[in-house]
Amino acid sequence: MDIIQQEIKKNSLFLAEHNVTTKIILGDCSNVLKTIKDNSIDLIVTSPPYSDQRKNTYGGIKADQYVEWFLPISAELFRVLKPSGTFILNIKEKVKDGERHTYVLELIQAMRKQGWLWTEEFIWYKKNCYPGKWPNRFRDAWERLLQFNKNKHFYMNQEAVMVATGDWAKTRLKHLSNKDLIRDNSKVNSGFGKNISNWLKRDMVYPTNVLNIATETSNKQHSAAFPKELPNWFIKLFTKTGDTVLDPFLGSGTTVAASLELDRNSIGIEIKKEYYDLSIDNVKKFINK
Ligand SMILES: C[S@@+](CC[C@H](N)C(=O)[O-])C[C@H]1O[C@@H](n2cnc3c(N)ncnc32)[C@H](O)[C@@H]1O
Repeated sequence: MDIIQQEIKKNSLFLAEHNVTTKIILGDCSNVLKTIKDNSIDLIVTSPPYSDQRKNTYGGIKADQYVEWFLPISAELFRVLKPSGTFILNIKEKVKDGERHTYVLELIQAMRKQGWLWTEEFIWYKKNCYPGKWPNRFRDAWERLLQFNKNKHFYMNQEAVMVATGDWAKTRLKHLSNKDLIRDNSKVNSGFGKNISNWLKRDMVYPTNVLNIATETSNKQHSAAFPKELPNWFIKLFTKTGDTVLDPFLGSGTTVAASLELDRNSIGIEIKKEYYDLSIDNVKKFINK
């Protein structure tokens, strides 16, 4: 057993509950990821430290060094993800010297060169963000959820995240034009098209790529915890029962708790002992509920 594996044995929690396994590992993901098998993960959902932010709580990486820091990690993520798998990266560029920094855009380009397909970008609209006033911009109410894949054909269960037809349907569908009653093929020949009348009698529709999720979370002891609804949504969309989810920047354990709740195996990696312990408490709380 090499040094990294011995370290993991000492500093990890392994639970077999609800017919799935949950592994929480204390360590630096750039080392720990090397111990995970090739093509073994179905979904990666994570929120790495944003550039220079929260320096006082769990460190930050300088904006200009962000891509260089992240690329060896994304190379490992590429190796461990199954060809049918998906990687969701929650990130948002900060403002530096009055401008939005471009490191997220640079990262997308660098990851494409690494072999990733940048399949989609979801927006997390934080419907309850704090009010505020800045001289040259409005309050930031959204973050990026970048979707990367290894392959054009990846697992996606769209039915699992359908939403009830809202009031918009009552007004929009009341006044259908002739064009709405036939398939309206895209003018750019993208192959996409719509026939709105198909949706007339349906109670459920597919969601958009904007997720309206409040930032509220029960993990008050971590300054950047996800609301559980966020990993939940992607787990339902991109995995099946018994699949394996990975979060290499686990924080307070939200992704592994969400995975356990949905009967998925999971692996979480966290560098800070304080948050590693918090993740374990959060998972145990869920099991003892
Ligand atoms: C934005 S937070 C994640 C919050 C998480 N999504 C949650 O719901 O609690 C990023 C986390 O990554 C951890 N971290 C930073 N560098 C790391 C590394 N190299 N390996 C593992 N974890 C790391 C930080 O300590 C922090 O808890």
